[in-house]
Amino acid sequence: MRIYRAKDYEEMSRRAAGIVSAQIIMKPDCVLGLATGSTPIGLYKQLIEWYRNGDLDFSAVRTVNLDEYKGISRENDQSYYYFMHQNLFDHVNIPAENTHLPDGMEPDSEKECGRYEELIRSMGSVDLQLLGIGHNGHIGFNEPSDVFDKQVHCVNLTQSTIEANKRFFASAEDVPRQAYTMGIQTIMRSKKILIMANGEGKADIIRDSFFGPITPKVPASVLQLHNDVTLVADEAALSKIP
Ligand code: F6R
Repeated sequence: MRIYRAKDYEEMSRRAAGIVSAQIIMKPDCVLGLATGSTPIGLYKQLIEWYRNGDLDFSAVRTVNLDEYKGISRENDQSYYYFMHQNLFDHVNIPAENTHLPDGMEPDSEKECGRYEELIRSMGSVDLQLLGIGHNGHIGFNEPSDVFDKQVHCVNLTQSTIEANKRFFASAEDVPRQAYTMGIQTIMRSKKILIMANGEGKADIIRDSFFGPITPKVPASVLQLHNDVTLVADEAALSKIP
């Protein structure tokens, strides 16, 4: 694993954006696996800026997002569909048909999980998968568990994730209880993984994930088994690594 240490959020975002843009330049029709959350917002801003300057072209890029809440519509400003459009897709020249997320409004979990897994496979390998990390070590919505869930599946969110996400909703009661997410195997099939973390609040989980035992109780720890992982983090998130 490579670790890039950035002094703050801005530098982390720029460094991570540099890796994504290198991928797009090297392979204009690459498949990018994308994440939502607060961590990658600065990275997306930087990509938009480079696109506006004429340095990046998204016209052949294809994307698959990690996850989506179940039971909220695309128009809901908390859906990951809405997030991706607000923070990236609406500002660059990526064709709408090249962007993919799980369909949160499909009530039949088995059907939607099968469809999304198949779609990802049909696109070939994800060239570069972007990840954030939850305080409990979740990646996508793969929560701490006794087993590594393999493929796209529907999860019940843990109380800690509901608590962490309630800042985006009117109240904790409004946070959806379920989500569709790529599974650990889906994520691990990516050729390259770029994981980002910032802030003191992520320091313990970064240490446990990358320097502790590999266990489904810390889902991100499985990344120790992947042969091309880059962690880009600020000083605060790296402050507890050995
Ligand atoms: C988002 C996702 C989540 C987040 C994680 C960290 O698509 O899959 O795993 O990456 O919850 O969220 P932030 O970046 O808000 O700390």
